[in-house]
Amino acid sequence: YVIGIDLGTSAVKILLVNKNGEVEHEISKEYPLIQERTGYSEQDPKVWVEQTFAGLKDLLTNSTISPDEIEGISFAGQMHGLVLLDENNEVLRNAILWNDTRTTEQCQQIYNAVGEERLLDIAKNPALEGFTLPKLLWVKEHEPALFKKARKFVLPKDYLRYRLTGQLHMEFSDAAGTLLLDISKKEWSTKICNLVDIDPKLCPPLVESHAEAGKISAEVAGITGLSKSTSVFAGGADNACGAIGSGILEDGKTLCSIGTSGVVLSYEDSDNKDFQGKVHYFNHGAPNAFYTMGVTLSAGHSLSWFKDVFAKDESFEDLVSEVNSVPIGSNGLLFTPYLAGERTPHADAAIRASFIGMDSSHQRKDFVRAVLEGITFSLNESINIFRNNGKTIDSIVSIGGGAKNDVWLQMQADIFDARIIKLSSEQGPGMGAAMLAAYGCGWFDSLSDCADDFLQVEKEFIPDRDNVEIYKKLFGVYQEIYGLTKKMNE
Ligand code: XUL
Repeated sequence: YVIGIDLGTSAVKILLVNKNGEVEHEISKEYPLIQERTGYSEQDPKVWVEQTFAGLKDLLTNSTISPDEIEGISFAGQMHGLVLLDENNEVLRNAILWNDTRTTEQCQQIYNAVGEERLLDIAKNPALEGFTLPKLLWVKEHEPALFKKARKFVLPKDYLRYRLTGQLHMEFSDAAGTLLLDISKKEWSTKICNLVDIDPKLCPPLVESHAEAGKISAEVAGITGLSKSTSVFAGGADNACGAIGSGILEDGKTLCSIGTSGVVLSYEDSDNKDFQGKVHYFNHGAPNAFYTMGVTLSAGHSLSWFKDVFAKDESFEDLVSEVNSVPIGSNGLLFTPYLAGERTPHADAAIRASFIGMDSSHQRKDFVRAVLEGITFSLNESINIFRNNGKTIDSIVSIGGGAKNDVWLQMQADIFDARIIKLSSEQGPGMGAAMLAAYGCGWFDSLSDCADDFLQVEKEFIPDRDNVEIYKKLFGVYQEIYGLTKKMNE
């Protein structure tokens, strides 16, 4: 057996996977976001660890397998979150997360110090609020006494791995989202560190995603019931692992993943394509591979916001099933999902969401459909960028919240104008993490071999030509809303 741990934004999900790729047991433990001010988004790393330990303990107590049968564990993690550690590797403050947008000034400072061209050349990405380097600079500026005590920074799942093994590492797919990694050379960029005045010693040692990073420590074995002989593999960024767990492992393969955020991600076999920084360009969790990706900050988050405010007692399933009876276009209602700003294509932390076209005949279900369509339009902006840069995107694997409902899957086919593939027992990042452990344990010669064994297609959704045409027109209107509502934040 192997275990895949997906340290997400709303919960940690733990999967026990057998040699055929079947999930034998699944546990999820939630934790809250700490949002003390608009634009702030934090979590306490100690809570991630407590909830993961509790989940592992539950998993071992409720399953009949012996801990010695678990050969390997690996991770998928929410990206970019800053975890600062002191000389004893104690956590210095709450982690500042990927969806925290307090760092607009620090992004400007990075451009001033490094220059946009050099940043794109080395780190392959623009300075965006969500990435880790602006967060480091924010703490340095606003909490100088605390920052002086910092000896290392890591990303969320790296801290969890450290707590399981006592060994501190980072791996390339997550390091790629810090803005401090030289993506092509796969080493920390001392040039960027020096230009922004960050001590390169803060950066931890780098390993490959499938590399063994240690074994379960005696202390953790005692707490969770895991065995000290279980190997712990480095793991990857949640999006890289989502790609692995969906078989996005060769050129031409594209993924749409809807969690708290939503991404459209495309495999790249080289680091030398030029998207002018319009989409993120990161190292994959598969060795010597890359991916490009556009991000909708509030995808699933838009739906959970709507449910919290307008349908608290409803289940997600009931709420989403209401849309079955609403025609495409939501009876004239349009939603932009900019609840916490937007990354792709606007890179704008200040923009906010809107409902446009309200009519006194509208009911709640029209709003729900408009939310789903707005999220999907936002993801279509990323697909537009890929296509405008010469990529052919005619089939897309869909995972996460967007893959749980057939109406939403058909909506994706019609808005993206592409065939949508739904996998059977789709588990996304957690499965990708389990596959990294399986590959690390030597069960397979490559991640692709593992994907061939572990993943099956369940169903395909073909675009309906009439709907594609209607959505094309609506998407044009949707795209105009950004420019019109931007004035509200000026
Ligand atoms: C990607 C990003 C999000 C998080 C969500 O750049 O910020 O998708 O990885 O966990």
